[in-house]
Amino acid sequence: MPIPDTDVVFATDFDTLAPPAATDLLVPLDELPESASSPDLVLRRVRDELMLDGNARLNLATFVTTWMEPQARQLMADTAEKNLADRAEYPQITAMEERCVRMLARLWHAPRPEQVRGCSTTGSSEAAMLGGLALKRRWQARRRAQGKDTARPNLVMGANVQVCWKKFANYFEVEPRYVPTEPGCYHLTPDTLTAYCDDNTIGVVTVLGSTFDGSYDPVADICMALDGYQAATGTDIPVHVDGASGAMVAPFLDPHLMWDFQLERVASINTSGHKYGHVFPGLGWALWRDAEALPDELVFEVDYLGGRSPSFTLNFSRPGAHVVAQYYSFLRYGFEGLRTLAIQSRTTARALATRIRAIPPYELVTDGSELPAFAFRLAHGTHGFTVFDVSHAMRARGWHLPAYPLPSPCQDVCVLRLVVRTGFTAELAGMFIADLTEVTRQLHPGRSMPAPIVKPLTTA
Ligand SMILES: Cc1ncc(COP(=O)(O)O)c(C=O)c1O
Repeated sequence: MPIPDTDVVFATDFDTLAPPAATDLLVPLDELPESASSPDLVLRRVRDELMLDGNARLNLATFVTTWMEPQARQLMADTAEKNLADRAEYPQITAMEERCVRMLARLWHAPRPEQVRGCSTTGSSEAAMLGGLALKRRWQARRRAQGKDTARPNLVMGANVQVCWKKFANYFEVEPRYVPTEPGCYHLTPDTLTAYCDDNTIGVVTVLGSTFDGSYDPVADICMALDGYQAATGTDIPVHVDGASGAMVAPFLDPHLMWDFQLERVASINTSGHKYGHVFPGLGWALWRDAEALPDELVFEVDYLGGRSPSFTLNFSRPGAHVVAQYYSFLRYGFEGLRTLAIQSRTTARALATRIRAIPPYELVTDGSELPAFAFRLAHGTHGFTVFDVSHAMRARGWHLPAYPLPSPCQDVCVLRLVVRTGFTAELAGMFIADLTEVTRQLHPGRSMPAPIVKPLTTA
């Protein structure tokens, strides 16, 4: 038999100790097999391959949940076959989704929670698309009512927005206007914002907090700048808050920060249930202050699966299990529990930042005091290695510590970023510091470095 010129998979039947058949040794991986295989064999093959992927708990790059309680996992397994779109079939999952929307509306201080419109999504990206779309439709309706053209909508945002907003602008044909960030302050500020706004601005996106360094955009100051702009020009520009991570952190840790529906200008907010909402990947939330903020024309009434239900998501079929898991996490932890988890993450992030600041040649860009995430860089000067070398060397030890340039025009600043999530224990943090110290010593041989000590990170 000719040997296919392709990737191979090695299969041995350990149960029977049967020698592998020649056809099992070399099978094409990118063609549908001609015939079925035994489930156990396929399970083993797929598991073997998955062993090559990273360990999710050592992934310091992602904001997305990598640890859930066994009870929550059990509920997800119990409901894995339930399609959220089958609302007539699964009215209780629909009820849980609605309860989660009301809980978030109250958490985000909606003045009239019962009037809030909201839905679950696959993540913050889908929620952001919906938020942007609502802004565009509102602007179009306003312009048409004034007898003006709707040809050139634009959206104003900081250069630090996550890629989902670039996608929104591209997919939904809106001109993106990026307010540049400045050295030392890598998020949107009110200072030059209004110079980017005009009659065609559908809205301003603020980020709580930045994917790049964990810092919060000052949402209240931005709203105030837009109040001034409205007073001067008559143009009323709504704000969307991208709280992918921060909308599930700030309510617990920064109760005095004004960023949510308390600010009248905030029309809509998104968050990722799968980030600090403690649900495995696949869940976001989008909420609008009221029906005016989410035009009816975007809401579809669906009846062909039995019953009638409003639908305003991009996806139709979606896993119900994620909504169930969110409902579990809200009931399980409550406000105090979510606050405790957030305190643990921020305390660990701040302690790690303090330790890293003491390791030459690193200096902090942010210190973990907003999102439980921070960025650090190499101090000015020549070191003979880059942050990319550090990232690479840490990868060899199992840690995924990303290195990247900050957004334009600050792309000369390259940083490493570390995200702390539930499950990143003091023991892991201690091992991380020991490994970072050792890696830096190896990359930086001429420099005297403290000897790496593996011990749990004390956060006191
Ligand atoms: C600020 C911000 N917005 C949006 C997103 C996209 O979120 P998702 O991955 O849930 O689609 C992210 C992801 O990290 C983010 O940090």
